[in-house]
Amino acid sequence: MCGIVGALGNHEVAPLLLDSLKRLEYRGYDSAGIATVNAGRLDRRRAVGKLVHLSDLLVHDPLPGKAGIGHTRWATHGAATTGNAHPHRSGPVAVVHNGIIENFRDLRAELAEAGLMPESETDTETVALLTRLHMDRGLPPREAARATLARLHGAFALLFLFEGEDDLLIAARKGSPLAIGHGHGEMFVGSDAIALAPLTDRITYLEEGDYAFITRAGAEIYDAEGRPANREILQIDLGQTRVDKAGFKHFMAKEIAEQPAVLGNALAHYVKDGQINLPAGVAFAGLDRLTLVACGTAFYACSVAKYWFESLAGLPVEIDVASEFRYREPPMPARSWAIFVSQSGETADTLAALRYCQGKVEKTVAVVNVPTSSIAREADLALPILAGIEVGVASTKAFTCQLLVLALLALKAGHDRGHLDDAQLAAHLAALARLPGLIHQALAVAPEIEKLAEHLAEAQDVLFLGRGPMYPLALEGALKLKEISYIHAEGYASGELKHGPIALIDRTVPVVVMAPHDRLFDKTVSNMQEVLARHGQVLLVSDARGAAEAGAGTWACLRLPEVAEPFAPILYAIPAQLLAYYTAVAKGTDVDQPRNLAKSVTVE
Ligand code: F6R
Repeated sequence: MCGIVGALGNHEVAPLLLDSLKRLEYRGYDSAGIATVNAGRLDRRRAVGKLVHLSDLLVHDPLPGKAGIGHTRWATHGAATTGNAHPHRSGPVAVVHNGIIENFRDLRAELAEAGLMPESETDTETVALLTRLHMDRGLPPREAARATLARLHGAFALLFLFEGEDDLLIAARKGSPLAIGHGHGEMFVGSDAIALAPLTDRITYLEEGDYAFITRAGAEIYDAEGRPANREILQIDLGQTRVDKAGFKHFMAKEIAEQPAVLGNALAHYVKDGQINLPAGVAFAGLDRLTLVACGTAFYACSVAKYWFESLAGLPVEIDVASEFRYREPPMPARSWAIFVSQSGETADTLAALRYCQGKVEKTVAVVNVPTSSIAREADLALPILAGIEVGVASTKAFTCQLLVLALLALKAGHDRGHLDDAQLAAHLAALARLPGLIHQALAVAPEIEKLAEHLAEAQDVLFLGRGPMYPLALEGALKLKEISYIHAEGYASGELKHGPIALIDRTVPVVVMAPHDRLFDKTVSNMQEVLARHGQVLLVSDARGAAEAGAGTWACLRLPEVAEPFAPILYAIPAQLLAYYTAVAKGTDVDQPRNLAKSVTVE
């Protein structure tokens, strides 16, 4: 989603803003722009497509100035055109924005009456126009911005820059995060600390509803009520903001390969002396129900966890995608917890679902990768998944770390509720402890998958099948493949196939069957046979036993190490990710920044 940067520097800021925008590229975008103030004069450059187009433009048409703002835009209102790219300008004010101004149509009508017509299709431009109107009516920049902010509905992060003001940026946060960076006689603003990493490690996060008047001397911050607010300056660990490919061709490849290490770290954090190490308030004995809510890949992690909580802890679980959950007004039992799973911690729908549950359930719990995120801060309890920064748009290591934390919660619930005795708990923890090593072995199938991917890259449609907790994994495998290779893919519960989807099977449709040799293996293999009988090309993903029993007649068969039954989805995520990755590489798509997608989805 959109990335925002701003700087009040001691040197030319355009190169620095470009560099910061580059660090936000991972969020996904389709156009970019920069505005600066130079000797009081406000000017801007904007370009469609990758940042390189903006930097080329700046070479031919430089933008001098020591104060500036920049933006990468992920289109919501209006196509990805230069005219819709940010910064938006009206007279003496330029604005960059992340989020949606929900009442922009009403504001537009009001502005039209005052003779101020928009030039773009965006909601953002109304912010610039409204601020200009306030300034035309005599308000100075600070008061004009304040008056504008009071009129805006929706979720946003905003930065304002003004003609004639070489030492002023105004930042506002409502719904979308903003970080202020403190330099030496310089100040910076970014959508996150990653954007500012080379510039400073001293960061203040604006709280919900805050706005700030920023000069080179510092930031004056006000809360939603307009009262001066004291917000801490945090010293952040720059190691946590390192964004490099470490010799890999893509971030996604690096992040897939990192999984043994990050899962090992998370295990070391959450399991100490053979005991699950969770905050004191995590106790499941008296609960009637759990609700798990998330979007996309994080939702599939919740879907796997449903099987775990039900079978290991006898705890009923409801799951839903956040965009549906938030509007269907579900009744929430008082003796229940709601768990929100999100890599970014900023997904607008998941955040809204969390807010819906506040006050209705006993506890809201966030399972997040970004501990400073809105979801982490607003939940009663935040559990970090400790995956480290995930840059590739397609979630990989965050998925397996989400699964690990959810598995530990399910085991804790099983023990608390008397479903697992000490010995059973110890056996499950030992099985989890083996996962980093097993994943390391599973990564060794990469060369085989790379060869198979050349064939998959020719397919128009691919099906993924799984049963039990491998069913959500089939959904995740299909999502991964479609998002980065653009091949149509669907996941099905293997037992559902004959209720409709089997009509799709012919010689041209590869079918990936995720089937560890577990108690459901024979059932899944029966469904696989139904596919083979219709000349489907099956790629069986199993273990040595499974391959020996059912590999005959398949197009190909991948052998993974054997894994303790409940936790197989964590291991089988690896071939699913590698299949998607190598297929996308074979097709030559933009693996780390697939078209139309954003890393942090801050609009609904
Ligand atoms: C797919 C993917 C998305 C995210 C979804 C939720 O690879 O990454 O489906 O899982 O947008 O994002 P978070 O986890 O940040 O809430």
